[in-house]
Amino acid sequence: MKNQKTKKIILFIIKNHFFLLLSSFIVMLLTTAIGIYMPIIVKDAIDINISMKDTLGLAKKAELFLVLLFILSILTYLSVYLTETFGQKFLFDLKRYIFSHILHCKMKIFDSNPVGKLIARIESDGESLREFFTSSVISIISDIVLCFGMILVLFKFSPLLTLLILPVIVIIFFFSFWFQRSVAPFWVILRKINSTLYGYYSDFIKGHDILRLFNKFSWAFHKINLSFNKKFINELRGELIDAIYYNSLQIFEAISISVVLWVGLAGNISSKVSIGTIILFATYIKQFFGPIKNLSSQFQIFQRAIASIERIDDVFNMETEEINESEDREKGIQFKDRIVFSQLSFKYPIHKDDEDTGINNIYALKDVNFEINKGEKVGIVGKTGSGKTTITALLLKFYDEYEGSIKVDDKELCDIGTYQIRSLIGAVFQDTFLFPDTILNNIILDSQLTENDVLKAIDILGLKAIFDRFPAGLQTVLKDDGSNISSGEKQIIAILRIYIRDPQIFIFDEATSSIDNNTETLIYDALKKILKDKTAIIIAHRLSTIDFCDKILCFHEGKLVESGTKQQLLLINGYFKKLYMNYKREEKFEEQNNFVYNERIIETQD
Ligand SMILES: Nc1ncnc2c1ncn2[C@@H]1O[C@H](COP(=O)(O)OP(=O)(O)OP(=O)(O)O)[C@@H](O)[C@H]1O
Ligand SMILES: [Mg+2]
Repeated sequence: MKNQKTKKIILFIIKNHFFLLLSSFIVMLLTTAIGIYMPIIVKDAIDINISMKDTLGLAKKAELFLVLLFILSILTYLSVYLTETFGQKFLFDLKRYIFSHILHCKMKIFDSNPVGKLIARIESDGESLREFFTSSVISIISDIVLCFGMILVLFKFSPLLTLLILPVIVIIFFFSFWFQRSVAPFWVILRKINSTLYGYYSDFIKGHDILRLFNKFSWAFHKINLSFNKKFINELRGELIDAIYYNSLQIFEAISISVVLWVGLAGNISSKVSIGTIILFATYIKQFFGPIKNLSSQFQIFQRAIASIERIDDVFNMETEEINESEDREKGIQFKDRIVFSQLSFKYPIHKDDEDTGINNIYALKDVNFEINKGEKVGIVGKTGSGKTTITALLLKFYDEYEGSIKVDDKELCDIGTYQIRSLIGAVFQDTFLFPDTILNNIILDSQLTENDVLKAIDILGLKAIFDRFPAGLQTVLKDDGSNISSGEKQIIAILRIYIRDPQIFIFDEATSSIDNNTETLIYDALKKILKDKTAIIIAHRLSTIDFCDKILCFHEGKLVESGTKQQLLLINGYFKKLYMNYKREEKFEEQNNFVYNERIIETQD
């Protein structure tokens, strides 16, 4: 069955809030019944009380009318309250399911799906389902009940007049559906233009510094103007089409009322139709047009909901990671011996949009063999794109479709729980992400750790001066992705995050690339102490960072080309030596420049 997962979840949510839904149905039915009954009171008042000059009876009818009006307004309020409550609960649950599924998706899903697209699944698709399953379904049923109820009443009072106006109503009904169906693709275009526009806003605001740097504001305006022009033409067309539709409905309405008045009055003369019945018809005809307009616009909501169900189902069909947190937590894990990569090859998964382009069709790692023994500090070096980060991504089980084997203590990685392996390893990534929260919360990340633990760690690592600079210390609130602090400060926070958790295996992937030399030396001197009995993988472009490593792995184009201690590798006179000599040349150049710079400073100070 199509879209089965989403349908199951929707049914489950509806079942959970069934009582609320049922209550809003009952209230809606009562409201509709009163809505049908009130014009009958007016009819009776005209035909019976007014024609017989029965003032007492008329007063009673007026009283009943007022009471019903009062009840109707309370029921209308209650109906809105119940429908909205159900709607919000439905939406909240649905969004929670989609969000939770997205968070648990495999890493490759995030490689091939832009964040904006995933957010749209939660926000706009969730919203369009709420709209359909709450207000839309309830109002469709209410409109159908109202239409049939009114037709039955009309038939009871004048079958002839009913048969006369029924074809007009049926024609309007089909006209409305035909109209909505024909304009539906047009609204789709408008929605696409809008989403392109939002995309532009987001990209250009995010990339404002690049626009500034290259003086390219005009390029942004040009792109936005093109979308604006398309939007303007389509919006105008839409409004015109809408105006034609609503005008046609009004013409139909006027024709129907004229027919009723004309034929009704003729009937009244021959005493077949009462004046009250004619007024009842005129009132109902006016009431008919509301549901007809409603029903046809529900068609659009229905189509949007069908498209949203399909898109949400795509999300629910995205592969998730299997994480059995409680089971893994109970089992625990100890790193006892070694990590072994043998005959390991890996290609990043190909997204279906990239199949023809050949992107990702190359091996990021090819026939890689190495081992890391417990307690070893292993440095990984290599040019940009040589596969260093990929090694760590595989070890952390971010990707699992590799060829060959990765074993931790003789156990294949796929047989080790995801939660287990990630609690064994503490990693500082190349790009650190920080949440918009305090520095402290970014370090402890919702754990049992306290501010004191963090302060102690700062002291040991000798970073107090850096944190003293923040206006509120650890309580300083970071902006989105830490945009109000420097890249080096971000890296220091990321290092602290790992340091205070004291993992058994450390991974530092360019963890100090933005930190100045002095602070880096400070951090590594402190880390050396705690890394003494730990296993660590240190990826670095700055070769001084891996000076204290027991072993260095040298990668080139996805292959492990050399490995050994620094001394052994320098003796080989191969790839590492070349990297090393280049690095030394750069270092010397920097030193000389610094020297000249410092001399100049001294000179100017003199
Ligand atoms: N998510 C991804 N999807 C597709 N290909 C990727 C992805 N991440 C990396 N690659 C590709 O895999 C290869 C190895 O990338 P990796 O990130 O491991 O390099 P690296 O050695 O860490 O480079 P750098 O020093 O720049 O960090 C590169 O060719 C890269 O383009
Ligand atoms: Mg990398």
